[in-house]
Amino acid sequence: MQLEELIELDKKYILPTYNRGLVDFSYGKGARLFSACGKDYIDFGSGIGVCSVGHSNEKLNNAIKDQVDKLIHVSNLYLNALQAKLAEKIVQLSGLDARVFFGNSGAEANECAIKVARKFGEKDGKMGRYKIITLESSFHGRTLATLRATGQEKFHKHFAPFPEGFEIAKDLYDVYSLIDDKTCAVMLELIQGEGGVYAFDKKQVQELAKYLKENNILLIIDEVQTGVFRMGEMLASQVYEIEPEIITLAKGLAGGIPIGAVLTTLKDVFEVGDHGSTFGGNLLSCRAGLEVLEILESYKNHKFLEKNIQQLDSYLFAILEDYADLFNEVTGLGMMRGLQAKSIEIQTDILQNAFLQGVIVLRSGRNVVRFLPPLTITEEEMQLGFERLKKACQKVREKYKNIK
Ligand SMILES: Cc1ncc(COP(=O)(O)O)c(C=O)c1O
Repeated sequence: MQLEELIELDKKYILPTYNRGLVDFSYGKGARLFSACGKDYIDFGSGIGVCSVGHSNEKLNNAIKDQVDKLIHVSNLYLNALQAKLAEKIVQLSGLDARVFFGNSGAEANECAIKVARKFGEKDGKMGRYKIITLESSFHGRTLATLRATGQEKFHKHFAPFPEGFEIAKDLYDVYSLIDDKTCAVMLELIQGEGGVYAFDKKQVQELAKYLKENNILLIIDEVQTGVFRMGEMLASQVYEIEPEIITLAKGLAGGIPIGAVLTTLKDVFEVGDHGSTFGGNLLSCRAGLEVLEILESYKNHKFLEKNIQQLDSYLFAILEDYADLFNEVTGLGMMRGLQAKSIEIQTDILQNAFLQGVIVLRSGRNVVRFLPPLTITEEEMQLGFERLKKACQKVREKYKNIK
């Protein structure tokens, strides 16, 4: 199909909720994407942190194909060995004494986390404790409850009334002042992904975690974007050295097959009937999840991940040094990084020019260029991506020089 034809078809039949790049990717390998017309791109976005082991990963693809030929789905009314094994693997890698519930997405995982927290709070007093405190600039999903939990005003237009029982703190210090006898949980991302690739201070997080534990208030860490080795460890919570009662995962967990997971040390809060999902944790997604974790665990154990993190870090700081007229700082941690542009206009120009040069980067917050490359990206792919990004930066610099 010609690109123009596809643009028309998309316009005619798809609800216009996305501002799409006008490209038709037809093939991918590693950190490379190829458009239908044959142009190649270095993918520093990995489908917004989903394709954690790259595109067309041979091991993952073989596992998926093998599972498709055996059995895709049986429903959660029956035992599922792959689901149980994936839960065991997640628990082992987390180091927590926990159980898992599987859904299909990040928002669903957060919905489930909210339900666990509300049920936990229900036992205290007549109305129980139901209030959940979240953070400004956070992002927790697109369902009504997770939108309400999301601390970015722009998402709250049009869709009221929202579920009650959420309050948004300005920062970690403000959380303390919002806690009252109705508070059951605090929910946060350790590194805010959509809100500007902003990493919270480790010590401040640890102090808050300690305070919450002492006061029997749950800590929910939304690791939908930070989890599954993106920080160099299975969980960002491990990097921050905290033990939250609830952790949510999705995105990179099955390398592109939809999945969401809630990991909780509250092993007995839910009973039969409290929650469910038709597709959640089906055989296909769990087989993919098991394969992804095996690949990434081995990648980490061989120190490849550490090397990639160091390389990404040095490329980003080199860009910052060379283009100090365009960027303020490097943000984020691990393989989830940002270059904070000096303005929204520069951010937009960098995104557009990078795309033209053949490198995909993402928008985050008001002015941050976000990097979420496949964790298994090769040295050569990273080098090529940054060469292209530099060309894009050069173009943007020239544009602003001419304006002056
Ligand atoms: C931190 C965080 N939580 C939740 C979500 C929602 O995930 P999903 O789009 O899979 O529902 C996202 C998606 O970007 C996210 O980054």
